[in-house]
Amino acid sequence: MPEPLRLLQVGAGGMGRAWLRTIKQNPDVVLTGLVDLDVPLARTAADEHGYADVPVAASVGELTERTGAEAVIDVTVPLAHPVVSVDALLRGLPVLCEKPLAESVRECLAMVAAAEVSGKLLMVSQSRRYFRTEAAFERQLAELGPVGSLSCEFFKAPRFGGFREQMAEPLLVDMAIHQFDLARKLIGAEPVSVYCDSYNPAWSWFDGHAAADAVFSFDGGARFAFTGSWCAPGMETSWNGRWRVISANGTAIWDGDSAPVAEFASGEALPATLGAEPEEIAGSLTEFVHALRTSTTPQTEVHANVVSVAMVEAAVRSSETGAPVRIADVLTAAHAEALDTVPPGPVLDVLRSWPSVQKVVGLYKVS
Ligand SMILES: NC(=O)c1ccc[n+]([C@@H]2O[C@H](COP(=O)([O-])OP(=O)(O)OC[C@H]3O[C@@H](n4cnc5c(N)ncnc54)[C@H](O)[C@@H]3O)[C@@H](O)[C@H]2O)c1
Repeated sequence: MPEPLRLLQVGAGGMGRAWLRTIKQNPDVVLTGLVDLDVPLARTAADEHGYADVPVAASVGELTERTGAEAVIDVTVPLAHPVVSVDALLRGLPVLCEKPLAESVRECLAMVAAAEVSGKLLMVSQSRRYFRTEAAFERQLAELGPVGSLSCEFFKAPRFGGFREQMAEPLLVDMAIHQFDLARKLIGAEPVSVYCDSYNPAWSWFDGHAAADAVFSFDGGARFAFTGSWCAPGMETSWNGRWRVISANGTAIWDGDSAPVAEFASGEALPATLGAEPEEIAGSLTEFVHALRTSTTPQTEVHANVVSVAMVEAAVRSSETGAPVRIADVLTAAHAEALDTVPPGPVLDVLRSWPSVQKVVGLYKVS
C-alpha cells in the first residue's frame, strides 16, 4: 500500500467542512494543512473536525514545504479559484478544484495553460457525476441506445446568504454547471449551441437571476432542455433535478435521488442495477487519487471541463442577447480575451501556441 497522499485544503467555509469530513474518511489521503484567508475560521474548522494538530495559514505558500504537501484541494469561492489553483500548480502541486472551475471561460483557459506549464494535474470536482443511481441511469441509457431528447427540471428554494445572493447569474453559474456537465456525460457528445432565457422571479431573495430555461443542441442532433429555479418553494425536486431521456427504443426517468426507472417502447421494464461506487465528493476524491497514482486522465481533467463552463457562459450570453449562442464561438472569444489579458510569461506563451482552442478542450467535431 502506498503512503496516504498528503493534502493541503484551501477553503474552510460551508463546503470546506464537507471536504474535511470526506478527507477524514478516505485512508488514501491525509490532511496536512488547512488554508483560509480567515485564519481563525480555519483553526475552528480544523479543531471541530479532529485536526487540532494540523497547521492553518492564510496561503498555500506558508504551508507547502512545512507540511510536505503533495496535492491541493481548492474549496474557495469561484472568484478565487484561478488565483489559488494556479498558485498551487506553479508550486508543483496537482490540484482538485471545486466547481465551477472559474467564473469565466477566459479564466478557465488561463488555468488550462497554467496546468500545461506546470505539467501537473488540474481536475475539477463535478461531484454530481458520482451517484450510484446516476450510474444506473447511464447503464439504462446504454441499453436504450442514442439519446434523442434529455430534459432536467430543477426546482429548489435554498436560503444560502453569502456570495450566491450577490452573483448576477447564481443559478446558471453556481448550480446549472452541474446539470449542464452531467448532460454531456449522459448524451455522450459535445454541445453545439444554446438558447437561454434567465430571469429573477418577483419574490426572489437573490440579487441576480435565480431562474432560467435553456435548450442546448448537441453534436449528433440530441437536445437538452433545462428548466430551473432557486426560488421555487414547494414540491421541490432533488438537488440533482428530475431527468427524462427519450431514445428510439424507449424512455428512462431519474428523480435524482432514487433508482431510475426505464421501459422499452414495447412496455417491457428495464431494471436498474446499482453499484457500490463512492458518491459525490468522495467519488471525485477517489478518482483524483487514482489518476495521480496511475497517471491516467480523470473524466473532469481541466481541458475537458472547460466545455461545461462554456455551456454556462453561452447560456448567460444567449439570455443577454436574446439569440442562440454557439459554444465554439464562446471559446474563440474567450481565447482572444485571454491573449489580451494574460501578462507576458509562460502561461501566455502556451495560450499563443494553441492552433485551435476548440481542439485543445476536446470540441473536435464542432469546429
Ligand atoms: N459540489 C457541490 O455540490 C458544492 C456544494 C456547495 C459548494 N460548492 C463549491 O465549493 C466552493 C466553496 O463554496 P462554499 O459554499 O464553501 O463557500 P464559502 O463562502 O462558505 O467558503 C469559501 C471559503 O473560501 C475562503 N477564501 C476565499 N478566497 C480565498 C483565498 N484566496 N484563499 C484562501 N481562502 C479563500 C473564504 O474565506 C471562505 O472561508 C464553491 O466553488 C462552490 O461552488 C460545491
